[in-house]
Amino acid sequence: MAILVTGGMGYIGSHTIVELQTAGYDAVIYDNLSNSNEKVLDRIENITGKRPVFYKGDIRDRKMLDKVFEEEKIECCIHFAGLKAVGESVQKPVEYYDNNISGTLTLVDVMRKHGCKNIIFSSSATVYGDPVMIPITEECPKGECTNPYGWSKSMLEQILTDMQHADPEWNVVLLRYFNPIGAHKSGTMGENPNGIPNNLMPYITQVAVGKREELGVFGNDYDTHDGTGVRDYIHVVDLAIGHVKAVKKLEESAGLCIYNLGTGVGYSVLDVVKNFEEASGVKVPYSIKPRRAGDIATCYSDASKAKKELGWEAKYGIKEMCEDSWRWQKNNPNGYDD
Ligand code: NAD
Ligand code: UD1
Repeated sequence: MAILVTGGMGYIGSHTIVELQTAGYDAVIYDNLSNSNEKVLDRIENITGKRPVFYKGDIRDRKMLDKVFEEEKIECCIHFAGLKAVGESVQKPVEYYDNNISGTLTLVDVMRKHGCKNIIFSSSATVYGDPVMIPITEECPKGECTNPYGWSKSMLEQILTDMQHADPEWNVVLLRYFNPIGAHKSGTMGENPNGIPNNLMPYITQVAVGKREELGVFGNDYDTHDGTGVRDYIHVVDLAIGHVKAVKKLEESAGLCIYNLGTGVGYSVLDVVKNFEEASGVKVPYSIKPRRAGDIATCYSDASKAKKELGWEAKYGIKEMCEDSWRWQKNNPNGYDD
């Protein structure tokens, strides 16, 4: 039996494949390569000694998905595939809803047709909107999202919840990621953003490697210890291991479960810059810019539910996150395009 990993060629997906294989699972990747590179397969094979089975296909392509379920024995699906650029989602809402929502609807329909009713879904802390409690527990009510990307996650959580209520044979695990950064220790796999990075860590590493002049810090007048935004950064390998634990949970008939995957610790933008400079030995010039629309002051998790119920806890700290992000960027200044 194998695990179908949609979006398995991407940043979080590729790290999850490594951890699944390391834990003894067979993984089948399904990805349309819209935001990833086929070289990832070589990198995975170099790390684990095992080349994952790969199907190039779109989650909106019912025929192709059918073929995969006919050819492979799939026991569950980890569903990463989706578009994730917040700014682009504001410009192209129809494309985002089509890809993320229509794609997921097609996927779950094909899954149930083939009798596979186990799914782990990549959600985000963005569903909490401006959270009414800090640290954020899973009990925190969902909030108003500020962009179509965020709404697609929030709506998909609702869709998968309704589906599980209507048919309790489904096991659905919703994983709400905080801010994944870092890269595989080998320095051969990491985040590979297209164009100008939207997120903090890839921007910092591109400044450090000389591809960008300076970091813009979006606001220093928030109600935080130094005025800059505070987030719960989590090492991508810890996040990947969280998925292996979620697979084990599915094996025990989970029903519907929701978990925050974060460290429970918040760092400001300037804390991250300082830690990165220490870890890399490279200075990161920055200047203060206006606040970015849609940003909140503080967002960090209470991750105790995942610890109690999944036996999962993040083990890497900010130092390793910075060291590993830097090793990846330094060794691969152009990502997988070298
Ligand atoms: P990524 O873009 O690196 O990976 C997504 C993968 O899905 C890519 O390989 C892309 O080619 C593929 N894909 C996209 N649309 C597809 C489609 N229609 N059919 C088949 N494949 C498709 O992104 P990531 O950072 O690895 O994120 C993985 C998931 O986690 C996404 O759903 C994302 O929204 C979610 N998430 C990410 C973050 C983050 O900060 N990276 C935070 C919270 C949630
Ligand atoms: C972003 C997304 C969110 C997604 C999350 C996970 C937005 C508005 N939100 O969250 O939907 O789930 O990523 O990865 O994009 N910062 C700078 N300069 C930069 C980039 C960022 O100062 O060049 C600051 C931000 O203002 C924020 C912090 O760094 O305070 C983290 O930003 P980012 O990495 O973009 O993540 P989030 O905004 O938390």
